[in-house]
Amino acid sequence: MPRTVLLGALLALWLLRYATTSRRQRVKQLPASEERVVILGASTLDGLGAALLKQYLLRGTEHLMIVGRRQEGLEQVRESMLAQTMGRRSASARVEIVQAELTSSADVAALRDRLRTQWGRIDTLHVVFGVTSILPILGVADVDPCGVNASGTASLDVHPTREGLDRIAATVQQSSDGNLKGTAMVLGALLPLLQTTSAHPAVVVIGSVAGLIPAPTRAVYCATKASQHFLVRSMALECESQAGTLVPGTQQRRKHVPFLLVAPGPIKNSFVAKYAVDARTGPRDNREKALEVDEVVRATLQRVDKAQWGTLVLPSRVLYGSLLAQLDATRGWIGRMAHRMYHY
Ligand SMILES: NC(=O)c1ccc[n+]([C@@H]2O[C@H](COP(=O)([O-])OP(=O)(O)OC[C@H]3O[C@@H](n4cnc5c(N)ncnc54)[C@H](OP(=O)(O)O)[C@@H]3O)[C@@H](O)[C@H]2O)c1
Repeated sequence: MPRTVLLGALLALWLLRYATTSRRQRVKQLPASEERVVILGASTLDGLGAALLKQYLLRGTEHLMIVGRRQEGLEQVRESMLAQTMGRRSASARVEIVQAELTSSADVAALRDRLRTQWGRIDTLHVVFGVTSILPILGVADVDPCGVNASGTASLDVHPTREGLDRIAATVQQSSDGNLKGTAMVLGALLPLLQTTSAHPAVVVIGSVAGLIPAPTRAVYCATKASQHFLVRSMALECESQAGTLVPGTQQRRKHVPFLLVAPGPIKNSFVAKYAVDARTGPRDNREKALEVDEVVRATLQRVDKAQWGTLVLPSRVLYGSLLAQLDATRGWIGRMAHRMYHY
C-alpha cells in the first residue's frame, strides 16, 4: 500500500510538471532556415544521428553539422541523407562534417572553436554518441556462472584473476569515458556558446531506458547511462541558475538553455553490435519488439518543436516501469524480460 501511494504521488508530480511545461512552439520562433544544428554521433547509416539529419533536411534546415570519429562514415551519412532528401530540402542546405573524438579535450575544443568562427552561433545541440556493454560483470572477468563470458566459453573458475579484474576496470573506464566523460566535456564546451549566441537554444541528449531500469548483462551500461542522466538533469538545473547572468564585459545576459533527455528502450539498429566495449561475441539481444529509429527521432523532434523539455521515455509505457524500478519493484518483470531478450 505505501508503495502504491508513493508511486501515485510520483506519477502525479510528473504529470503536473509535464502539464505546466512551456507549450510555446519553438519551431515557430526559430525558422528552419535560420536554425544552426549540431549532431554529435552521426556517422552510422542506421543511427539516430543520421535519421535526425534527414528530418532536419526535410524540414528546410540549412545549417547542419555532423560529428563522429570516422570521416568515411560521416561522408557516407551526408551523401546518403542528401540523396534521400533530394528535391525536398532547401537548395541552400549545407552539411558540415567534423571528425572528432568527443572524449578528447583537444578535439572538443577544436570543434567549439570551429563553430565560433564558422557559424558564430548554435541553436540546437544533439548529443547522440555513446557506447554500450553487453556482458555481466563476472562475464567480463570470464567467470560468469551462467556461461556468458568474454571468451565465449564456459568457465571452470569461480574467482576472477587479476587480469580479469583489469578487464572489468577497462570496461568501466571505456564506458564511462564514452557515456559520461564525453557528454560532460561537450556540454562544458558548448553550453556557453548556446547561452550567449542563440535566442532559442536547446540541448537534446540521448540517454537510455538502461539509465532508468537496472538490467542483467547491462550492469556497466546501466551504470554509465544512469550517471549520464544525472549529469544532464543536474546541468539543466545549473543552467536555470545561470540564465540571466551578465556576460563579462558586455550588457548581454545569458539565455536559459532547456534540456530534453531522451531515454529510449532497445532500438532496431546496429548500435549494440558495433559499439559494445566488452565483447564482439556473446549474448546479442532479440530486437523483434524494439523501437524503430524513425519513431525515436519523430517523438524527439515533436517534443523539441513544442518546447516540452524534461525527460522523454520511449516507449511511453516504460515510464511506469522506471518509476517502479525506483522502488525496486521490477525484479521479476526485468528478470523475465532479460531472459527473453538477452537469453540470461
Ligand atoms: N540502439 C539502441 O538500442 C539504443 C537504445 C537506447 C539508447 N541508445 C543510445 O543511443 C545512442 C547511440 O545512437 P544509435 O543507437 O543511433 O547508434 P549510433 O548512431 O550507431 O551510435 C554511435 C555513434 O556515436 C559515434 N561515437 C561513439 N563514440 C564516439 C566518440 N567517443 N566520439 C565521437 N563519436 C562517437 C559513432 O561514430 P564513430 O564510430 O564514427 O565515432 C556513431 O556515429 C547512444 O547514446 C546509446 O546509449 C541506443
